Amino acid sequence: MRADTATNWDRLAPLYNLQLRLERSALDAAVDVAAFDPADRLLDLGTGTGALLVRLIERRVALAEVTGVDRSPGMLARVPALPDGWRLLRADATDLPLPADRFDVVSAIYVLHLLDPDHRQKLLEEVRRVNGPAGRLIVVVPAPPPVNRLTRMLAPLARLLGCLSPTLLGLRPIDAVAELERCGFAVLETRRVTRGYPSVVVKASFPAA
Ligand SMILES: C[S@@+](CC[C@H](N)C(=O)[O-])C[C@H]1O[C@@H](n2cnc3c(N)ncnc32)[C@H](O)[C@@H]1O
Repeated sequence: MRADTATNWDRLAPLYNLQLRLERSALDAAVDVAAFDPADRLLDLGTGTGALLVRLIERRVALAEVTGVDRSPGMLARVPALPDGWRLLRADATDLPLPADRFDVVSAIYVLHLLDPDHRQKLLEEVRRVNGPAGRLIVVVPAPPPVNRLTRMLAPLARLLGCLSPTLLGLRPIDAVAELERCGFAVLETRRVTRGYPSVVVKASFPAA
């Protein structure tokens, strides 16, 4: 059974927004790195309670179209009212009911590290399919902790907690750059964020064959 189920997120949903302040710097970095164009059509995978969408509204970022996808109805129910042309879709990001070449930018903010390697690869294949030929991918993941004596001592505990509840705290950080490159993406830019959750923001694209 997948530990990271929609039901788990439905249970967390009422409390989820309490921690959003800690995401803010990473969200801002993601918006900056994305360098949106008003003609862009954005797909936000694992949109949750709409943290990225809300930040885009607050920063008055103009976009042609925005679709937020999540498989947890409890999380989606907490997305505030959205501007005209922005919509929510309940779906699994590893199997999207969306046509090919439909978007210009796909984002996955604090999502990839929650998935096991097989589902991560499926999600990235879906990104490739639904993104247009010049499409960009924006990823935010928790930064892997620095390697020192303390983190080496705590590593077995973190692994155990990560197995018991991978949805919590990003206890299974991943090397997003290596992961994206392994799946054929070209990494265009990375940014480390230290305020709030230590995070890594990555912009990537799929090079033309
Ligand atoms: C840590 S939250 C991040 C939410 C939001 N992106 C943010 O930055 O606040 C992870 C979200 O990903 C969603 N999620 C996890 N796996 C998913 C999948 N396979 N398909 C769609 N949504 C998924 C969960 O339901 C949850 O809402």
